[in-house]
Amino acid sequence: MIDGKKVLFSGMQATGTLTIGNYLGALQNWLKLSDEYECFYSVVDLHSITVRQDPAELRKRARALLTLYIAAGLDPKKNCIYYQSHVSGHAELSWILNCFTYMGELNRMTQFKDKAAKHADNINAGLFTYPVLMAADILLYQSDVVPVGIDQMQHLEITRDIAQRFNAIYGDVFTIPEPYIGKVGAKIMSLQDPEKKMSKSDENPNASIYLMDDPDTIMRKFKRAVTDSEGAVRYREEQPGIHNLIDIYCACSNKKPEEVEKEFDGKGYGDFKTAVGESVVSVLKPVQEEFARLEKDKAYIDGIIKENAEKANYFAQKTLRKVQKKVGFPEKIR
Ligand code: TRP
Repeated sequence: MIDGKKVLFSGMQATGTLTIGNYLGALQNWLKLSDEYECFYSVVDLHSITVRQDPAELRKRARALLTLYIAAGLDPKKNCIYYQSHVSGHAELSWILNCFTYMGELNRMTQFKDKAAKHADNINAGLFTYPVLMAADILLYQSDVVPVGIDQMQHLEITRDIAQRFNAIYGDVFTIPEPYIGKVGAKIMSLQDPEKKMSKSDENPNASIYLMDDPDTIMRKFKRAVTDSEGAVRYREEQPGIHNLIDIYCACSNKKPEEVEKEFDGKGYGDFKTAVGESVVSVLKPVQEEFARLEKDKAYIDGIIKENAEKANYFAQKTLRKVQKKVGFPEKIR
C-alpha cells in the first residue's frame, strides 16, 4: 500500500515496433487502472539485453516507449513512469532472488525454451534468469496487481512461488501479487494469420498495425487483412479473421460484437474493413499527435525521467533494505 492505494507494476520492452495489440491489450488497460492503483510503469531495458541489441537503437526505442506511455494518456505526475536501468534495486534484488530460485523451475519456462530455440547462438544466463528479474521488478514495489498478457502468466506464477518461499523463511517480507488479465482487446491477432498473435517482431509488416502507422497505411493493411469466403460479418470461432477484426473494432469504438453483427448485416467485407480501419485511425490519431508534441519537448521528458527515477528508487530502497537485513547483510555505516 502506498498512500492508502494498492500498488500496480507493469512493464514493456522497447524492442520491436509497438503494435495496436500492445496498445489495445496493454496500454488501454493501464490507463483504466491508473486511478485506482499507485502505478509503476517501467521501460524494462535490463530485460532487453538478454538478446543482443544495438546500443543507440535501444536507447532511442526506450525513450520513444517512455514518451509513448505519456502520449497514450498516463499522467507521469500520478504514475511512476521510469527506466528500469535507473533503479539499481532491480538488479540487486534480482541477485538475491536468484539464490531462492531453482534451476528446475527456470527450466520449465516456456518462453525460455522458445527464446533459446530462436537465439541458439546466444543462450546466455540472463535469458535463463529473466523470470527472476521480472520477479524482482514486481516484488521490489510490494505490488498487489500486475497486468500481464497470457504469455507472461507463467512468469507471474514463478514470482508468486519465489515470494512465498522467501516469506516462509523470513516472515512477511513480500506482498504476493495477483495477475490482472484485461478483457477487451486482450488478444489481438495477426492480420495475415489470425491464428497467431499480432506481434511487434513479425517479419511481415502487413500482419501488424504499428502505433505510428499513418492513416493510409492503416487503411491499406486492413483492406489486405486475411478473412474467409463466408461473406458474413459474424462473431464466430469459425471465422478467425473476421472475429479478430470485430475485436479490434469493438476495442476502438466501445461497441459490442452483437451490435457490430447488426451494423454490418447484409454488408460486404469491404465496407466492414473500411469501418474497422477508420475506427483505428481515430483512436491512434490523438496518441500520435501527442507523441510528436512530447518528443520535441526534451526538457519536459528529461524532468519526468529524473523525478520518476527518484520516486521509484525511494520505494525500491525501502524493500531492498528490508530484504538485505533479512538475509544477513550488515547494516551500512553512515
Ligand atoms: N517480460 C514482460 C514482457 O516481455 C515485460 C516485463 C518485465 C514485465 N518485467 C515485468 C511485465 C514485470 C509485468 C511485470 O512482456
